[in-house]
Amino acid sequence: MDRFDFERLLSSQSNRRRFLLGAGTLTGLAIAGQSWQKVVALPKFSGYPFSLGVASGDPLPNSVVLWTRLAPNPLNGGGMTRQNVRVRWQIAADENMRQVVRVGTTIATPELAHSVHVDVRGLQPDKWYWYQFKVGNELSPIGRTRTAPARRDRIASFRFAFANCQDWQNGYYPAYRHLAEEDVDLVVHLGDYIYEYGPQTGGPRQHNSPEIVTLADYRNRHALYKTDLNLQAAHAAFPWIVTWDDHEVENNYAGLIPEDNQSQQEFLRRRANAYQAYYEHMPLRRSSLPQGPNLQLYRRFTFGDLAQFNVLDTRQYRTDQPCNDGLKPRCTEALDPAATMTGTEQEQWLLRGLDKSPARWNVIAQQTMMAEYDFDARPSAEVFNMDQWDGYVAARARLLTFLNQRRPSNPIVLTGDIHSSWVHDLKLDFSNPASPTVGTEFVGTSITSDFPAQFIAPVRAALPDNPHTKFFDGAFRGYVRCNLTRDRWQSDYRVVSTILDPNASISTSASFVVENGQPGAQRV
Ligand SMILES: [Fe+2]
Repeated sequence: MDRFDFERLLSSQSNRRRFLLGAGTLTGLAIAGQSWQKVVALPKFSGYPFSLGVASGDPLPNSVVLWTRLAPNPLNGGGMTRQNVRVRWQIAADENMRQVVRVGTTIATPELAHSVHVDVRGLQPDKWYWYQFKVGNELSPIGRTRTAPARRDRIASFRFAFANCQDWQNGYYPAYRHLAEEDVDLVVHLGDYIYEYGPQTGGPRQHNSPEIVTLADYRNRHALYKTDLNLQAAHAAFPWIVTWDDHEVENNYAGLIPEDNQSQQEFLRRRANAYQAYYEHMPLRRSSLPQGPNLQLYRRFTFGDLAQFNVLDTRQYRTDQPCNDGLKPRCTEALDPAATMTGTEQEQWLLRGLDKSPARWNVIAQQTMMAEYDFDARPSAEVFNMDQWDGYVAARARLLTFLNQRRPSNPIVLTGDIHSSWVHDLKLDFSNPASPTVGTEFVGTSITSDFPAQFIAPVRAALPDNPHTKFFDGAFRGYVRCNLTRDRWQSDYRVVSTILDPNASISTSASFVVENGQPGAQRV
């Protein structure tokens, strides 16, 4: 008898309510317009159907999303027939899956690449759970997840890690191997989960198709990344909160504007393909189910009275990069008040949320560097990155002015995108070192993606010209581990010795703290 003994659970009178809960999941799918009459109860697979592992995410105090995708042939469309398949799930209070607290059934459909997103309700806050799927006679690996603390609970400490930018072709994921062993409650991913490029030679591993465009392409690319066992281990160990950057669709796209010469219609279709495959492969709630080329990704999470995470989407609603993108002096477009990273609606949502937040630490988890950085070392000349907030000066000024005026408690900005480690004091006026520091920004490096070695020296040379920048390191790959208490935030920059070995070692390259009530970071 396997540990996944649904039959026993479902037949027991005392578990009738749990069965009904599972039935509710079915009803939800039927409402979503997918037929579930023709369901294969005992499917046959050409390979192990859980080849992409399991994941969980978007933790609430009483609920978490459980994810998997049936893919016996992951790199070639998944290998499933075009039939609906019944998938059972269970969640337990112990790692041996003996104290089962909820079970249910859901339907994996070909329309969503046989992905499964179970929004388990009725859980206890601030608690570890273990979960597992079963399809036919096949059992998934057991994953571990954790609910958020209750919203009003006084929380003494909270630990999480954030990661981003994991170009498959640039190296292996020893960082995830170590992240899976960390003592954290949550992983936040800031984007560039996949890269869209075709194969490049010379690296330790290659993409398996030309640049991705179709839905099938994006699915196969997500599946390729998800076959990495270190990545699977990190997903199976913690709930993740994910958001995207540009490469989930295409390098430096903005809203409906592609990087290269594609028609708007072609790009709209491509974005819809990319967004759908993203949903299919991430532990997202049904509220993020894509609607054509749109997907609701910005959202908020609360961890007791200690931390609130505002998770931003700075690609979907963005206006085009000003001044024709790139690294250059600013043209007037970069100062345009209508230029936006977030779109107006998301900006208002962010400011309202910050204004009302009772949390000690108010996190803005987003993509591109928010602090100003003048890449030209000469005091007389300025060069800015137009894809960062430096190209959206008025929008940034609105946010930083708001932080200065409304004073939400301890704003902390988390950033990815630039494949290098940074710490910045966020200044109300970056051109004036005496102006108030209104927040702190931690920029994580990448899991693997490249920061060209020849850029390191010029960036470093410009540091004296950017006195609000407390730290820069371009040489190392890894992630950032954060430990929050009521009095202090600590960020540890965790870096691996190499990405050419999936088992490389890890160390802490630098640690910075922010004291409660004192924006700006100090090295420890
Ligand atoms: Fe990246």
